[in-house]
Amino acid sequence: MKPGMSLIKHFLQFKDFRAEEYAYLFERASIIKTRFKNYEKYTPLVDRTLAMIFEKASTRTRVSFEAGMYQMGGSVVHLTTGDSHLGRAEPVDDTARVISRMVDVVMIRTYEQAKLEGFAAYSRVPVINGLTNEYHPCQILADVFTYIEHRGSIAGKVVAWVGDGNNMANTWLQAADILGFTLHVSTPSGYEIDPKVAGVTNTGCVKVFKNPLDACRGAHLVTTDVWTSMGYEAENEARMKAFADWCVDREMMAAAQPDALFMHCLPAHRGEEVEADVIDGPQSVVWDEAENRMHAQKALMEYLLLGRIG
Ligand code: CP
Ligand code: NVA
Repeated sequence: MKPGMSLIKHFLQFKDFRAEEYAYLFERASIIKTRFKNYEKYTPLVDRTLAMIFEKASTRTRVSFEAGMYQMGGSVVHLTTGDSHLGRAEPVDDTARVISRMVDVVMIRTYEQAKLEGFAAYSRVPVINGLTNEYHPCQILADVFTYIEHRGSIAGKVVAWVGDGNNMANTWLQAADILGFTLHVSTPSGYEIDPKVAGVTNTGCVKVFKNPLDACRGAHLVTTDVWTSMGYEAENEARMKAFADWCVDREMMAAAQPDALFMHCLPAHRGEEVEADVIDGPQSVVWDEAENRMHAQKALMEYLLLGRIG
């Protein structure tokens, strides 16, 4: 029997939480952010430890989790494939059994979602998806929080996804389904999203467009990501050719709502998936978006470890 098959709450995909849990998390993220901005100490996670396992590179995910955990009074252990037995073929189940006896929460960035889910099945403590080939739920948590901060509720709005049908696109799709907005998607052929992969049966929340300009028409938020995600580097040359018309430019932003926002999870490649004038322009909220990773994940860790406050 898998010891992890209990009532432990994990955050492995965006669809793991319900809309009302997200409403709670966004409220908590806002309170936690305000305290941080006011230099108010808030340390509810004293004596708690977060283990972070990275099998791929990271800047934002590492810093936001690590700084966030320390700010909440806890501590952090950082592991990579190269400096742990994960890179020397120790089974993931065994690793999960051992690590989860020593820490209170685990964040993993890895390749296959199946590996993350395998770890969670044997973990005694909550497991958070820090990015897999299939999903990036912490990023969309921060992105929706950022949208709400700037424009209010995202329900009923239109989000345009321009680019690869990747982990970010799959997660936006799950978010549209749960939070009640419409996702306009435009990808080059061969790089489409598959609502079945994301487990989204309500295909009414997604509209697919051949032309990226059409996907941006009337959108409240335009967003994109790198053309070549981590793990797909061997395809880089083919992707550069296939994605050439999927660069978010001023014309696409002009087709969106006049007050549309631009987001990018970063790292960005100016001149590839986005024009410098867009990412560095007035509609871009990418720096708030990156900062909000920390506030949103502090709310997430508080919720997973302490449940609802008050
Ligand atoms: N957006 C994001 O997850 O960035 P990192 O790869 O730097 O963690
Ligand atoms: N889709 C990108 C996101 C990086 C944060 C990747 O997986 O590399």
